[in-house]
Amino acid sequence: MKVTVVGAGNVGATCADVLAYREIANEVILVDIKDGLAEGKALDVWQKAPINLYDTRTVGATNDYSKTAGSSVVVITSGLPRKPGMSRDDLISTNAGIVKTVTENVVAHSPDAIIIVVSNPLDVMTYQAHLTSGHDRYRVMGMAGILDTARYRAFLAEALDVSPKDIQAVLMGGHGDTMVPLPRYTTVAGIPVTELIDSEKLQAIIERTKKGGGELVKLMGTSAWYAPGSAAAQMVEAIVRDQKRIFPVCIELQGEYGIDNTYLGAPVVLGKNGVEKVIELDLDDEEKALLEISRGHVKEVMDVLDNMS
Ligand code: NAI
Ligand code: 2OP
Repeated sequence: MKVTVVGAGNVGATCADVLAYREIANEVILVDIKDGLAEGKALDVWQKAPINLYDTRTVGATNDYSKTAGSSVVVITSGLPRKPGMSRDDLISTNAGIVKTVTENVVAHSPDAIIIVVSNPLDVMTYQAHLTSGHDRYRVMGMAGILDTARYRAFLAEALDVSPKDIQAVLMGGHGDTMVPLPRYTTVAGIPVTELIDSEKLQAIIERTKKGGGELVKLMGTSAWYAPGSAAAQMVEAIVRDQKRIFPVCIELQGEYGIDNTYLGAPVVLGKNGVEKVIELDLDDEEKALLEISRGHVKEVMDVLDNMS
């Protein structure tokens, strides 16, 4: 099983490393436009194999997609990250051009690959990959929900002083400050979270989650990579191992939740065919209203992309 990761920067290299050391694929191809960067990082990950005991081969390539031919899954992380003061949407014109070129190359060499987009602004870059690849919505999707729920789960674990393993949650909407964490669907080892934490503390955690990406940009001067790279690798794993796992994933909604033709995060089943099912939750009026705000925001940025081409 061959998996390609495009972009050997912070997120892409982390994703390739997780794919290798967890032996999620037996061959991982890392591609970047910067001369030697992908080759160097792939070699470094390969040289870690005798220490961490895995046999996944990692191969780097500078803009040479012939090495990616026949990939089952391709993760696209190429593009600029945020700097302090920037929103994810500020990246649109540069990253749309990058995602378009990369997707053309990916599809030319791996027409059957399932594509996972990570580049920001996430929902709209997933739309760009869909437009360029022509893939149906089941085979081109975006990674954001696993990361955003992981932040929410980590903050809850800290506040409750329990293991993050025991926190289950789902979150919907766009990857931005309008994302919609869903406390009604958050449990701690099966116990509704609302029975364990007061509403003020929970609301503070929700607000921190919404701005979770920005918190890290402020601290580091660039955006996060350990959790994002691992989140993308977890999606690859669900697909290549046909795990039928349920994750929030960015997908084009086609009537679900009363929303059409918009890329948004929603819970789905991930397996060997990509997105195998979109799960429709029975949202209450308040949750629906928050999702509508998020939809409106993402649609505005999708329209910006449509008007650019
Ligand atoms: P980075 O700057 O460390 O790496 C990006 C890499 O893309 C660079 O090595 C660059 O040379 C490469 N690149 C640029 N144009 C390329 C092209 N045409 N072909 C191949 N490679 C190309 O950035 P980082 O931190 O890895 O972030 C990557 C992207 O992921 C950014 O857009 C960032 O905003 C986004 N991101 C999204 C997250 C999400 O939850 N969806 C989370 C974290 C980051
Ligand atoms: C994040 O949420 C910036 O999208 C990136 O960390």
